[in-house]
Amino acid sequence: MLKGESVKLAPLKREYIKNFLEWLNDPEITQYLDMYRPLTRDMEEEWFDNLKTKENTIIFSILLTENKGNEKLIGNCGIDDINWKDRVGHCGVFIGDKKNQGKGYGAEALRLLVDYGFNTLNLNRIELIVYDFNIQAMKCYEKVGFIEEGRKRQATFKNGKYHDVIFMSILLKEWKI
Ligand SMILES: CC(C)(COP(=O)(O)OP(=O)(O)OC[C@H]1O[C@@H](n2cnc3c(N)ncnc32)[C@H](O)[C@@H]1OP(=O)(O)O)[C@@H](O)C(=O)NCCC(=O)NCCS
Repeated sequence: MLKGESVKLAPLKREYIKNFLEWLNDPEITQYLDMYRPLTRDMEEEWFDNLKTKENTIIFSILLTENKGNEKLIGNCGIDDINWKDRVGHCGVFIGDKKNQGKGYGAEALRLLVDYGFNTLNLNRIELIVYDFNIQAMKCYEKVGFIEEGRKRQATFKNGKYHDVIFMSILLKEWKI
């Protein structure tokens, strides 16, 4: 369990699948993700079951802990595609509970995740991708210390238009140890 001021990162539970299904079938959320097909319960259960065999993927739930004794699931985050030789991981975060977006919880969760990546997994570089129209996410990532290092022009089609895919990363030497 990784504890912050308002959120903590905790193991996933099977009972969270119903929340993930609701969030990951919501176009307001999926426009920002590499997802566009309907997600079925079977698909989500298979993903959940396969996680235990995936050595290069680590996923946490994000729980809001502000109301003591009443923890609330608000999203998830994780590091995948971990390359243990180059010490690189790819991270992702989403706050599916829309009422709780824009309150700093995404940045707090990402700080906990990045700290875990550097100080527990011994990574040297953590990277992510974000679409050019996802200003809220970019602001969140910049707050945590990620910098833009390049973009693929018109590499994704979302909401009827082509958009650039932006690459961001943070290095161990840029993180407060
Ligand atoms: C992206 C996401 C994880 C960020 O988490 P969050 O808790 O909402 O973000 P935070 O509150 O920590 O930070 C967001 C920043 O963007 C700002 N912001 C919020 N809405 C904004 C908007 N419409 N336009 C510009 N900036 C905005 C906030 O003010 C905040 O910056 P500040 O602290 O300097 O004021 C979350 O919004 C989310 O899950 N969105 C949907 C899915 C998604 O985009 N996932 C990421 C895919 S790359």
